[in-house]
Amino acid sequence: MGLPGILLAIPISIIALLWWYLHIPWNLPNLPRIPFYVSILGLWSDMGQDDIYDRWLRKPLEKHGAALIWFAGRWSILVIRPDLLTDMFRNEDIYAKAGSQKKIPWSVIASLVGDNIINSHGENWKLYTSIMKPGMQRKNFDTGLLLNKSRRLVDKLLEEQDVAGDGKGILTDSYVQKYAVDVMGQNFLDLDFEAQALEQPHNAVRLEALQSIIKRTLFKPLFFNFPDLDKYPWLFSSRKTAYRIMFEFEDKLFNTVCEHLNRRREKGVTTTEMVSHMLEEAYRDGRINEQQFRDNLKITFLTAHENAQQLINSTFWELGRNKEVQSRLRTEIQNTNTAIPTAEAVNRLPYLTSVIYELLRLYPPVSQLINRVTLEPALLGGKIPIPKNTFVGWNSFGVHNNPDVWGPDAGKFMPERWGSTVGEMHAKFRRETVRGTYIPFNAHTRKCLGQGFVLLQMKIFLFELLRRVEWRVDPGYKKKMTPGGILAPLGCRVILRELGPVEDRASE
Ligand code: HEM
Repeated sequence: MGLPGILLAIPISIIALLWWYLHIPWNLPNLPRIPFYVSILGLWSDMGQDDIYDRWLRKPLEKHGAALIWFAGRWSILVIRPDLLTDMFRNEDIYAKAGSQKKIPWSVIASLVGDNIINSHGENWKLYTSIMKPGMQRKNFDTGLLLNKSRRLVDKLLEEQDVAGDGKGILTDSYVQKYAVDVMGQNFLDLDFEAQALEQPHNAVRLEALQSIIKRTLFKPLFFNFPDLDKYPWLFSSRKTAYRIMFEFEDKLFNTVCEHLNRRREKGVTTTEMVSHMLEEAYRDGRINEQQFRDNLKITFLTAHENAQQLINSTFWELGRNKEVQSRLRTEIQNTNTAIPTAEAVNRLPYLTSVIYELLRLYPPVSQLINRVTLEPALLGGKIPIPKNTFVGWNSFGVHNNPDVWGPDAGKFMPERWGSTVGEMHAKFRRETVRGTYIPFNAHTRKCLGQGFVLLQMKIFLFELLRRVEWRVDPGYKKKMTPGGILAPLGCRVILRELGPVEDRASE
C-alpha cells in the first residue's frame, strides 16, 4: 500500500473502531437514546448533574419511563418509571446485582470495591448479609456518641467562622467529611479516628487523605466512561497511581482495623456487636476469606460516611437559603427544652422528620446507579423486552423530580408534603418506597441496611446544629451540583452565626 493508501486507511480504521465500540447492540429495546456525548460532557463542561438531567434526560425519561444510556463502557437501560422500577427491584433473580467487580473486573473502581455486600448477588450476598446485617441494624446505637461528634463538628465550624470573620462565607465540606468518617468508624468499625489521629497521626491522616484522593480519582469522566482504558496503566500514568492508591487505602484500613482488634483481644474483650468484629469472626472461622473481609471493610468505610457527608452538604445549601424552614425547624427543636436529645426525643419531632425525608427526596446522595444485569431475557414491567446480559439501573433524582409522580411542585422543597404527624410521615415513607416513587435508599430486597442508623444520625446532628447555629448561604456562592457520582452541591459557602450561650451544657 502506498502512502496515500496508508493515510486513508488510518482514519477509516479509527472510524470503524469507534463504530464497533460505540454502536448500540441491535437487540436492545426500542427506547429513546440519550446522546453519547452526554456521558462524556465532564471532559469539557462543568455542568452539574441536575442541569444535565434537565437538559438531556428529563424529557425522554419522563415520556418513556426508560432510555438507553452509555454508562461505564456500554449501552445500558436507565429507568425512572415507578412500575418498571418495582418490577426490577422485586425480581432480583432476573435483574441481578452486578457491580464493577462483575462488569469491569480489571478496573480501578473494581479494585477499590471488590465483591461486597452491596454489589454481590446470590449466595455471596446472603453470606455477607448474614454476617454484617446485625452490626448495621443494631438496636443500641449510642446517641451520646453521635451527639458528641455533632458537637465537635459545630464547634469546629464556629471556630472556622471566627477565623474567617463576620459575614465571610466558609467551606464546610472538609469538617463534615471528618465528622462523617468519625461517626462511621465509631459505630461500625470500633475505631475512633479522631483519637487515632492523635495517637498515630501519620496513619490516620494518610487514610483520610487517601479517601479524598479516591473520590476525585474514581469519577474522572474519561476513565469512568471508558473503563477499558484502565487495562493500560503503562500508557496512562494516572491509572498506575490510581491502582497504587486503591491498594494503599485497602492495606491501611485493613491493618488499622486488625491492629485494633488484636489489641482488644489482648485485653480480653470479645464482644461482637460491630460490623468489624462480625467480619473478623467470620474470617477466623473460615466463612469468608481475607479478600472478602477486606472488601467488606472498605465498602462499610465508604458507604457509611460518604452518603451522610453529602446529605449534610445538601442540608447546608437547602436550609441555608430557606430561612422559613430553618427557623420553623429551630423552633420545634428549641421547644423540646433540652440540649441532650435521645433517640425517642428526636423520633417524636414531626418537622425534623419531614425535613430529612424531603432532603433525601430532592438531594438523594445516590442519584443514579446502573449495577444490575439481566440473567435471562426479561420483559420489564410486562412491556419492555430486554435481552440477557443487559445492564439496567435507575435514577432516583429523576424519579423524585418527576411531576407525574410528585405533582407540579415536584422540584420544590416542601417538608409539609409528608403530612403532619410522625405516624403519617412514616406511613407515607413506606408507601412511596414500596411503590418505587421514593428510592433514596432503594427498595425491596436490596434496600439500604444503614437507613435506620443514618436517619438517627441526621436527626441528632440537625438537632445540635439548629439549636446552636443560624446560617445562610454566602450570597457570592453560585449553586453547582456535582457533575456525576454522589449528588451534592460543590464548594457551597455558608455564613454561620452562633445563637446565644449553650446554657444546658452544665446539666450533662
Ligand atoms: C444518607 C445515607 C445513605 C444513603 C442515601 C444510602 C443509600 C443506599 C442505596 C441507594 C443503596 C442501594 C444500592 C444499590 O442498589 O446498589 C444502599 C445499599 C446499602 N447501604 Fe446505604 N445509604 C446510606 C447510608 C448507609 C449507611 C450508614 C450504611 C451502614 C453501614 C449503609 C449500608 C448499606 C448496605 C449494606 C447496602 C446494601 C444492601 C443490600 O444490597 O443488601 N448505607 N444504600
